[in-house]
Amino acid sequence: MSTQNSNIPSSAGNSGKAPGEAVGIAILGHGTVGREVLRLMEEHRDALEHRIGGPIEVRGVAVSDKEKHRGSVPEELLTDDAMTLIQRDDIDLVVEVIGGIDYPRRLLLTALQAGKSVVTANKALVAAHADELAEAADRANVDLYFEAAVAAAIPVVGMLRRSLAGDQIELVSGIVNGTTNFILDAMDSTGASYDDMLKEAMALGYAEADPTADVEGHDAASKAAILASLAFHTRVNYDDVYCEGISHITAEDIAAAKAAGQTIKLLAICQRISDESGQEYVSARVHPTLISRDHPLASVDKSYNAVFVEAEAAGRLMFYGNGAGGDPTASAVLGDIVGAARNKVHGGRAPGENTYANLPVADFGQVPTRYHIDMEVVDKVGVLAELATFFAERGISLRTVRQEERGGHARLIVVTHTALEADLAQCVERLKESTSVKAVKSVLRLYSE
Ligand code: NDP
Ligand code: HSE
Repeated sequence: MSTQNSNIPSSAGNSGKAPGEAVGIAILGHGTVGREVLRLMEEHRDALEHRIGGPIEVRGVAVSDKEKHRGSVPEELLTDDAMTLIQRDDIDLVVEVIGGIDYPRRLLLTALQAGKSVVTANKALVAAHADELAEAADRANVDLYFEAAVAAAIPVVGMLRRSLAGDQIELVSGIVNGTTNFILDAMDSTGASYDDMLKEAMALGYAEADPTADVEGHDAASKAAILASLAFHTRVNYDDVYCEGISHITAEDIAAAKAAGQTIKLLAICQRISDESGQEYVSARVHPTLISRDHPLASVDKSYNAVFVEAEAAGRLMFYGNGAGGDPTASAVLGDIVGAARNKVHGGRAPGENTYANLPVADFGQVPTRYHIDMEVVDKVGVLAELATFFAERGISLRTVRQEERGGHARLIVVTHTALEADLAQCVERLKESTSVKAVKSVLRLYSE
């Protein structure tokens, strides 16, 4: 239940506005996303005011470098002191599109404690500090919106928070990072190089300020934490998510996948799983995954995202759209601005966080999965039988085994049936130790539904 914080000025919170009184907005950041938010707000000012039911006014824009050319942004709105801006009495709503964790965390906690509502696109911050931010919003009776933090223009946060709030969700999975999808798709469809495509994704504004967050899976892991928290009513933080990126994926891996009628996608998978005693857990993981080219996720190209949801009563749902870039992200930010401003004008709050279920987060080793293992092995009698025992010892059953002659050695590709991640990982370690295995070239997980 919400409680009023005694440090908050009586004019703050979501208590409603006098007729005609504008909602004062501070925009923090004027980069790829912030620029488009301001442009669209200006372009659609009248329509937005009708939808909100009252006027809005941008009263400050915080940037790092005030001397940079900012197009049509009036100079008197610009400041490089975001902390002072957000504490002004004429600011009701703070929109954070800076990025990073520590500084925006301080800004947003200060804003919330001062009774300002917050809209942020910052998944890294939400995935690391959701509890603290949600609690501050509750205490001040204001809104905390973050639709743009996951899959940009695709309204997955609202869908989980509102539309599916009455259902029991079993699985949320999909492609939630535009940069890595852009790179993998180009490597697969045109044979373009990883480095060239990363540079292009950065130039197009898809990548994070530090693109390591994209290619190493951290950005998708933040999004997985947010999705799992909302879907399973359980706090899942960034550190709870198993995370493997795409920087080790080679042109050879892509070619091998293609030859087998598959493609490689970086997937976020958030799942409710049960052990033998019926104890339920939440699992959240991000890793490159082999998917059959017939599967709808395989045809998600360029920087597009797609999210699958499986719910008890609703069944299977799929959401597809623009997952990165200035305009798509600004669309989601603007939707949140309308919602938060509406509540400032009329009073009331949007649905917030609810982590009542508090399920344990599963160890990655407990997760059921399937492996595709590509090895170079010694070409002599008995090798296949020897390697098969490593799988059998851990109760792993093999689905297919394919062997190719490679002048002096053999290439062996093994696809397993479903087994526990811990058993599969131990088996790969055992294969690496065997003198019959010259090299384990790649280990990829297969998509299973
Ligand atoms: P950019 O790097 O393009 O822009 C960041 C902005 O923040 C710049 O205007 C910069 O100022 C400003 N800034 C940096 N430090 C400070 C500071 N100390 N005080 C005030 N302003 C500061 O980032 P994006 O617009 O791409 O991303 C912003 C946020 O949106 C991130 O959290 C990102 O994860 C998220 N996001 C981005 C998406 C995308 O496709 N780009 C999609 C979904 C979410 P200056 O202009 O002076 O350099
Ligand atoms: N860097 C992110 C991506 C931006 O590539 O998906 C959208 O969150």
